[in-house]
Amino acid sequence: MRIDVLTIFPDVIEGFAAASLLGRAQRDGLVDLRVHDPRDATSDVHRSVDDAPYGGGAGMVLTAEPIFRSVVAHDPPRPVVLLSPTGRRFDQAVAQDMARLDGFTLLCGRYEGVDDRVRRHLCDDAVSVGDYVLAGGEVAALVVLEAVTRLLPGVMGNEQSAGDESFSGGLLEYPQFTRPASLEGHEVPDVLRSGDHARIARWRRAQSLYRTLAWRPDLLPGGVDGLAPEDRRLLEEFPPDDPDVAGPEPGDGPS
Ligand code: ADE
Repeated sequence: MRIDVLTIFPDVIEGFAAASLLGRAQRDGLVDLRVHDPRDATSDVHRSVDDAPYGGGAGMVLTAEPIFRSVVAHDPPRPVVLLSPTGRRFDQAVAQDMARLDGFTLLCGRYEGVDDRVRRHLCDDAVSVGDYVLAGGEVAALVVLEAVTRLLPGVMGNEQSAGDESFSGGLLEYPQFTRPASLEGHEVPDVLRSGDHARIARWRRAQSLYRTLAWRPDLLPGGVDGLAPEDRRLLEEFPPDDPDVAGPEPGDGPS
């Protein structure tokens, strides 16, 4: 997959990529990451990439021209996605959609914004990583890069692990444990050491349901009563493993 990033801080993207799973994905030929600095497409002696906003107001706005020129020069893959707090919310479903593409381009905003002609006439989409304002799109681009590339076949060691985790089935992930079995009196649940894989799968789903109901009730807006009968039976079969997750009772859903 080819991924291009347009940013006036190329070192931020390249430094992170080199030190993370992305670096290995690049070396393995799974990801072709190309980072472009719009500053290289400027024509003035100061290589300026920003200017005061028309209409007045605080701060500087990234100018459209170097960004347009950079896109013409590198012909990066589409869609071109602007990172901006005004974009649609980036979540696991968006990450999965992006992971199915042949490639895409991330365009990092900065300062008080980007000349809106970039969004209107150059970008195909805009995403936000959350309802808060970062100083620029670079950290948001890294979030998107990592969330998408770890879903690509071959990038994670274990193909299974990206499918099982939090959000991919609309639930939080079940608790995981590794050795030792006993740590200062805290034991790993017996069921996980039983070798009964069908029972382990049922226990895990029950724990995912308990966690989601307790910690992210917005993901299950019907509450316990809205669950499928098989899932309600799982909650009867297994108590919550984690004392922080109180077992919900039928009728606990929103009134
Ligand atoms: N740039 C600044 N804030 C951002 C956000 N929340 N998401 C994406 N890009 C941003």
